[in-house]
Amino acid sequence: MEKKIFIANWKSNKSIEESKDFFEEINSKKSELDFGSNTIIISPPFPLLSVCKEQIEKYGLPFELCAQDVSQFPKGAYTGEVNAVLINQFANYAIIGHSERRTYFKEDDGILEKKVLQALENNLIPIYCVQNENQKVPSGVSLVAFEPPTAIGSGKPDDVLDIERVFDILISKNPSIKVLYGGSVNSENISDFVNIKNISGFLIGGASLLADSFLSLLEN
Ligand code: PGA
Repeated sequence: MEKKIFIANWKSNKSIEESKDFFEEINSKKSELDFGSNTIIISPPFPLLSVCKEQIEKYGLPFELCAQDVSQFPKGAYTGEVNAVLINQFANYAIIGHSERRTYFKEDDGILEKKVLQALENNLIPIYCVQNENQKVPSGVSLVAFEPPTAIGSGKPDDVLDIERVFDILISKNPSIKVLYGGSVNSENISDFVNIKNISGFLIGGASLLADSFLSLLEN
């Protein structure tokens, strides 16, 4: 299999202890695993970024970190926000425009463009999510995840032909991007998606929460 990017999106899940258990389990199975030259990225809730960083360093795992969001504002008087400069002390990536943020937090193109700008100015690589081929991708974005809302957390992934169709349109509009797919990917169905034309990787929610299911997905 060609080198791929796997992003574990933990969403608003896991405690400090559960995060530690996750890495301990991965470490205990490390010798049986071949992470190959794949890029494996863990995206925990903000307060767990430092815990995950410690654990990755402790066990010497070839994993990188990603924030699930980034403030549209720089450092300053923005109560409740987490700015890109601070995130960059822990992570190299930030998910921007996830469907759940667009829906529950009413994030629109204007806000998302500001978030992308903050990320890019502060050395964070945006993983920009779109729900369909019509959503605008801000300039400077190099990684775009197509995540159809009906596929997210539903156990019903999009079909391969539709993913290829959307990828083609996204790439034709933004020729320099790499495309990822997310939505109900798990260890059982991952093999259906790895050979999709132009696919560079996956955003994985539910199936990334347990070390076991995440590892079997990576193996498959
Ligand atoms: P899911 O989530 O794998 O649980 O469908 C994917 C995502 O929302 O990133």
